[in-house]
Amino acid sequence: MSRSWEFVPFVLGSLRRPISTGAFVPSSRGCARALLDGIDMVDTDTVVELGAGTGAITRALDAALPASARLLAVEINDGFAERLRRTAPPRVEVVCDSAVELPRILDEHRVERVDAVVSALPWTVMRSEDRRAVLTAVAKVLQPEGVFATLLSVHRARTDSGREFESLLADTFTEVRRGRTIWTNLPPVTAYHCT
Ligand SMILES: C[S@@+](CC[C@H](N)C(=O)[O-])C[C@H]1O[C@@H](n2cnc3c(N)ncnc32)[C@H](O)[C@@H]1O
Repeated sequence: MSRSWEFVPFVLGSLRRPISTGAFVPSSRGCARALLDGIDMVDTDTVVELGAGTGAITRALDAALPASARLLAVEINDGFAERLRRTAPPRVEVVCDSAVELPRILDEHRVERVDAVVSALPWTVMRSEDRRAVLTAVAKVLQPEGVFATLLSVHRARTDSGREFESLLADTFTEVRRGRTIWTNLPPVTAYHCT
């Protein structure tokens, strides 16, 4: 499905829930590439996406993953989740829930270890304890060589919550690599890869 098909539903959804959506348009292809570039897809069995929205990154993940890999897409907005269930490639397991519930979600889907977690969650508008709960759960489920790839809006990086998020990444993971900034995305975002 082309990006234009998901554009209008995303914009309408974000107007209804602007704060929890965190963006007015879906992520660009450049964004998806910047996130996925740091992940070795060849030996990947299970990937979890947090904040899948209408599937801009989900579809890029599906295209890049081996056919045998599992892909769980977690999305809190029931409108987005329902749409993604109808439009996503068949292997995508769409879960309408909060990323904060990651341990329970993985338990219910019988997922023990995860090779990569990919996120476009709006970190800086989340409650501090929720940010911490999600990152702790991510670090716990990742394989030792697993990767956590995420985005942070450039204009939010200098706020208190942006700085808190960056230091939380540093406290939670052994290595945090700040990757490319995609200036053409709305809003511009920087990709991070953590192991
Ligand atoms: C910036 S949008 C990104 C959407 C999509 N991944 C993309 O790149 O176009 C963030 C998404 O995270 C979802 N979200 C926000 N808080 C969430 C939470 N606690 N758990 C799961 N999804 C959440 C929003 O509903 C929204 O769809």
